[in-house]
Amino acid sequence: MTIRDILIYPQDEAKLRKKSVKVKKRDESIRQLVDDLKETLLANPGAGLAAPQIDVHKRVVVVRLGQESGEMEPPRELINPVILEKGPLAKGFDGCLSLPRVVTWDTLRPSWLRFRAQDLDGKAFEMRVEGIDAILVHHEIDHLDGVFFTDRLPQDGELYLSVDTEDGHKYVPLNSLPFMGKS
Ligand code: NI
Repeated sequence: MTIRDILIYPQDEAKLRKKSVKVKKRDESIRQLVDDLKETLLANPGAGLAAPQIDVHKRVVVVRLGQESGEMEPPRELINPVILEKGPLAKGFDGCLSLPRVVTWDTLRPSWLRFRAQDLDGKAFEMRVEGIDAILVHHEIDHLDGVFFTDRLPQDGELYLSVDTEDGHKYVPLNSLPFMGKS
């Protein structure tokens, strides 16, 4: 298992925008990929990670569900995930390890969804998730299609930069700060 470097928006945008391909064979390279995704996610302050974020363009993501209950589950792999059914869109909290410290409460995502995926042993399963877990699964599947969370912001959507100051933790509106194109 290896902690991999996470691609960063906007400097790695071309790679993050590339569409990922379906996994056809579950061989050693897929096992390695899932291991690396899990270890990289555990080493970072996030709840999900998609293979293209470590520059592997295969339809594999890992997610830590159960946030709503206050206890995140260990990372679980979703191979070739497909959304089967989804609920109405609602505004919610979103952020991405490829855009560190930037958050929003405005992305439009399904309030619940039902999806199908496979695990490492090739077993297919279906799950229904809602709330934060639905945002998370939707966000990670988006990565496989090169869709970034900022693409899901409505016209009046706002981004915030999370900063630590002497007075504590603050969210600064991003429209007042230059950031795109800078690292
Ligand atoms: Ni992300």
